[in-house]
Amino acid sequence: MGGRSGESLVSCCGQCRGIEAVFDDSAARRDLRRYRRKGATGSTRQLIDAIAAEGVAGLTFLDIGGGIGQVQHELMACGARGGTSVDASPAYLQTARDEAVRRGYGDRMRYLGGDFVTRANDVEAAEIVTLDRVICCYPDMPALLGAAAPLARRTLGIVFPRNTPFIRAGVAIVNFVQRLRRHPFRGYIHDPDEVEAVLARHGLRRRSLREGFLWRVMVYGRNRQSPAA
Ligand SMILES: C[S@@+](CC[C@H](N)C(=O)[O-])C[C@H]1O[C@@H](n2cnc3c(N)ncnc32)[C@H](O)[C@@H]1O
Repeated sequence: MGGRSGESLVSCCGQCRGIEAVFDDSAARRDLRRYRRKGATGSTRQLIDAIAAEGVAGLTFLDIGGGIGQVQHELMACGARGGTSVDASPAYLQTARDEAVRRGYGDRMRYLGGDFVTRANDVEAAEIVTLDRVICCYPDMPALLGAAAPLARRTLGIVFPRNTPFIRAGVAIVNFVQRLRRHPFRGYIHDPDEVEAVLARHGLRRRSLREGFLWRVMVYGRNRQSPAA
């Protein structure tokens, strides 16, 4: 397991309860209000721009841990054909669906609830797969990325926290407070070399990297010689 939370691995069972508690109705409403006001910003904007630069018109996507659907709304606005959203938070999934209906493309989306690792067999491959700030919510990065990577026919975009002493310390403090509160949610810092190794095993090579203070934004592409499974 590559997760470094400053404490032992918790099962996804506990983590998924934590996800539901953190990413609840009121957080979803707040995030949607902010997105409607400001659009996609920061690392999410960078991810969308990097993917859109390669062209998305007519392509399908799979957004894992898509939250309120920022990536989905933006890719659809860029001409994507449609996609699938998988999220462990029922509140976020419903918010993404309602917003897609409001924007007029609900019929071109599919929504699946639950832990992606356990739902991956129910999901079709897509040209574009995205995980925007998701692996930091999940203890078993190789399982999550190992399930996602084979479904990316062309591109996989990922945003996750940088593995710096400052950020590791911040996550350890937050996790310590969570433990004192007996809250099941934990954050995880994963080693970028391990992330890259998992994706390389599935034939994905890095095409771009952007680093901010907190987040790494990376886009991977598939070689012609290594088609998706
Ligand atoms: C920090 S939010 C990011 C949401 C969105 N991608 C964004 O950047 O605005 C993390 C999201 O990942 C989802 N998530 C975390 N682990 C997941 C898993 N194993 N399977 C499905 N969804 C997951 C959470 O429910 C939550 O919606």
